[in-house]
Amino acid sequence: MKLFLDTANLDDIRAAAKLGVIHGVTTNPTLISREKGDLSAIIREIASLVDGPVFAEVIAQNAEGMIREGRELASIDKAVCVKIPMTEAGLTAVSALSKEGIPVCCTLVFSAAQALLASNAGARYVAPFIGRFDDIGYDGIEAVASIAEVLSDGEFGTEVVAASVRSPLHAVEAARAGADIATVPPKALFQMIRHPLTDAGLAKFMKDWADSGREA
Ligand code: E4P
Repeated sequence: MKLFLDTANLDDIRAAAKLGVIHGVTTNPTLISREKGDLSAIIREIASLVDGPVFAEVIAQNAEGMIREGRELASIDKAVCVKIPMTEAGLTAVSALSKEGIPVCCTLVFSAAQALLASNAGARYVAPFIGRFDDIGYDGIEAVASIAEVLSDGEFGTEVVAASVRSPLHAVEAARAGADIATVPPKALFQMIRHPLTDAGLAKFMKDWADSGREA
């Protein structure tokens, strides 16, 4: 399972990109709203920092507006994948943009039924939200598993991007549930590096080395 970074913050993207573990970046209107500057400039800069797709979401709620914005977003950089919400208008836009060869991620997906529709409409990716489903007392990982299962025949080649990941465990469970990609916020990505036994083991190696009188 690939890892994407879920942020529009350039400093966080630079820090994570250095690790060599990031294969794409996802943004949404909330994440963009936290950053200063013009959307196009932010997206272009992100695309220059990471090898892989950069997801940018439409704001319009009607199909014509989504299609127009989707084309504009796609013209910013060849790495752009247009995010479209799972609505009736959204499906129309997913279908139109996909037919033009523009990669689309259908976002705010919470059920296998929605994922099947998005896939049939031509979505390159579907993004089920784990954390937000957990927040209302459902099992977000179970939803990812169900979606991965119904798309596993590969009929339309749609990939599952597990989103709304809040912890290292979410990322691991998304992989076990069959997600193709998990998009992880910077905090959770850096938490994935850490383990208390790694820290303790390293401290003991360094102490033993120093106690032997050798140079560092
Ligand atoms: C993907 O890009 C989603 O918009 C994002 O993962 C949502 O995460 P949140 O539920 O933590 O806001």
